[in-house]
Amino acid sequence: MRTDLAGPTAPAPPSHATIGTVPPPTIPDDEPSVRPGVNERYRKGPVDRFVERFEGPNREVAVHRDEIVAALAIDPGAVVADVGAGTGLFTFDLAEAVGPSGHVYAVDITPSFLDLLRRRASERGASNVTVVQADPKNAHLEPNTIDLAFLCEVYHHLEYPRTYLGSIYEALRPGGRLVVVDFRRDPNTSPAWVLSHVRAGEATVIEEITSVGFRFEGRTPGLSQNYVLRFRKPSEQPL
Ligand SMILES: C[S@@+](CC[C@H](N)C(=O)[O-])C[C@H]1O[C@@H](n2cnc3c(N)ncnc32)[C@H](O)[C@@H]1O
Repeated sequence: MRTDLAGPTAPAPPSHATIGTVPPPTIPDDEPSVRPGVNERYRKGPVDRFVERFEGPNREVAVHRDEIVAALAIDPGAVVADVGAGTGLFTFDLAEAVGPSGHVYAVDITPSFLDLLRRRASERGASNVTVVQADPKNAHLEPNTIDLAFLCEVYHHLEYPRTYLGSIYEALRPGGRLVVVDFRRDPNTSPAWVLSHVRAGEATVIEEITSVGFRFEGRTPGLSQNYVLRFRKPSEQPL
């Protein structure tokens, strides 16, 4: 007796067919913290200091914010997660890019940044922005709801990168994109503060992210201190 619902007249799939399920993320059972205490400073300092630091002219990604958002090529109506949104440097430009029919989830773990994001969203009347309290292992986004997850200078702040990326993988829709902007780390050319603060270079970051199940799609050029890496959650599992 047949148990599938397609019935006897369903056409046979073509030989290159794919199964309509996406592979689950590969997450280690009990990943140790790769950078204990890396976010402590955010809990201690006054939020104004971080607004100045994150949004000031000494930060490459702040100076080139418009180009970075343009390079994301966001469609109106898209659902975007600004993961590690900080003070909201990108959040409201992303909200403008997705428009009233889209949505931005501004995700962070630092309570004072979450308060500021809520205040800024309310002051701007940005009704398409929702602020989300994450924890170091989980972005706390609904599964299969996000078209693009954007992490700007956040990757080196992830204490449990593979576990956390697993939660982002689950939150993305099949075929959804992940874009990671972070500091170049080259033992020969990077400044001392990058070498001590930024745990891993580009090759390690790509290895970690693909180990979870993301496909690496390439780099977007244009920044000197940072790289821009593009990944995608597979849309279907090959036969
Ligand atoms: C250097 S700031 C970058 C902020 C913002 N993306 C920007 O470019 O201005 C790093 C941010 O990552 C946040 N963060 C660290 N670990 C996180 C995690 N597991 N989930 C969400 N946010 C996290 C920190 O609280 C902080 O706001």
